[in-house]
Amino acid sequence: MEEPVPIAEIANLDLDVQEDDDIVDPWNVASKSDTGIDYEKLIKRFGCSKVDDELIARFEKVTGKPAHHLLKRGIFFSHRDMHSILNIVEAGKQFYLYTGRGPSSDSMHLGHLIPFLFTKWLQEVFDVPLVIQLTDDEKAFWKDMTVETSMKMAFDNAKDIVAVGFDLEKTFIFNDLTYIGQCPEFYRNMVRIQKCVTFNQVKGIFGFGDSDVIGKITFPSIQAAPAFSTSFPAIFNDKKLPVLIPCAIDQDPYFRMTRDVSARLKFPKPALLHSSFLPALQGAQTKMSASDVNASIFLNDTAKQIKNKINKHAFSGGQPTVEEHRLKGGNPDIDISYQYLKFFLEDDEKLADIRQRYISGEMLTGELKKAAIDCISPIITEYQERRAKVTDDVLKQYMTIRKLKFDYK
Ligand code: TYM
Repeated sequence: MEEPVPIAEIANLDLDVQEDDDIVDPWNVASKSDTGIDYEKLIKRFGCSKVDDELIARFEKVTGKPAHHLLKRGIFFSHRDMHSILNIVEAGKQFYLYTGRGPSSDSMHLGHLIPFLFTKWLQEVFDVPLVIQLTDDEKAFWKDMTVETSMKMAFDNAKDIVAVGFDLEKTFIFNDLTYIGQCPEFYRNMVRIQKCVTFNQVKGIFGFGDSDVIGKITFPSIQAAPAFSTSFPAIFNDKKLPVLIPCAIDQDPYFRMTRDVSARLKFPKPALLHSSFLPALQGAQTKMSASDVNASIFLNDTAKQIKNKINKHAFSGGQPTVEEHRLKGGNPDIDISYQYLKFFLEDDEKLADIRQRYISGEMLTGELKKAAIDCISPIITEYQERRAKVTDDVLKQYMTIRKLKFDYK
């Protein structure tokens, strides 16, 4: 008989938070510093590991491909057990990828694109299956949204995700409010996870209180279940495979819990690659978030809206007057246009040149904003062309329960 063993010692609960520390959890990201979150400190607090030069070199060696710029530039800055995944690849064994989105707006924003762009690259270099979870149930619990509205947003956002360019033969996208009713194995894994975690523990990890609706209390088991391959019998049969989860670091609490539970349920511990946050237009103190229209560039914004938003709202690291700027130069580390270039301008030399010219005062804020607009606008335009081609039929193919191109015996 399965006995729930309390996991009283969940590792790295992030309980030792000091008053001045940055806030980073699935619902809030806030820092008091102009340069944003102190990611080095977060690695220590959360007990994860830094993506260092050695790991990047190993990535290149094992995949035989140059590292993605999001990895090289330290934007994916932290990991859990990434070396184990590289060991698995070296040994010719299999793993899969899992990521997700909590649909809370009609369209995703530029920040959401980061984990998905990187996941697409991981799927290409490792040639592995990918499952993508849309937590429409999560948003029904947390937002003032009906089940029907959450599901509609899930389908709209799923189209946004397809437009990133995932390979249909290697990708399964599902929304909880549909899939859990279709797949008893998924629900059984949820129940196994629910048996391992007490109310006290979820309170400790997620800060739930007595007046939170009961759906929230069990939700972490739903985000944990896709990290167990047996939740997808159509893809993996009943094979227990290791998983790698790319996401921004705000999602880590879910997977700290999952890693603890997985040991007890005799599943491999999920590995993670954590991204830092694409900052809000107003400054690096907070992340780009769907709940603030003026702080975010949405994937359905027009070229004109993007231009206006950056020109009007993007926080500048420049000096108050042209004369002072020429004399003292600008600060790219707090400048949002520069930060966006760091995330999206792939050309290393161009980026280094912009940085140097901005610091020296040769490049003015207006010119830096124009460089950001010229970089982001075509990315979004091309993305929108792909998005326009994602019909209901195309989406249905990605969301149909089916075997992918991989065989698991
Ligand atoms: P959600 O919808 O808040 O975010 C989707 C993904 O985007 C990341 N993200 C960002 N990355 C960079 N810069 C930002 N400004 C930014 N804002 C959000 C998130 O970390 C996430 O990777 N509960 C989850 C959905 C989910 C999930 C998962 C995410 C279910 N299973 C597995 C990652 C992995 C959510 O609401 O994500």
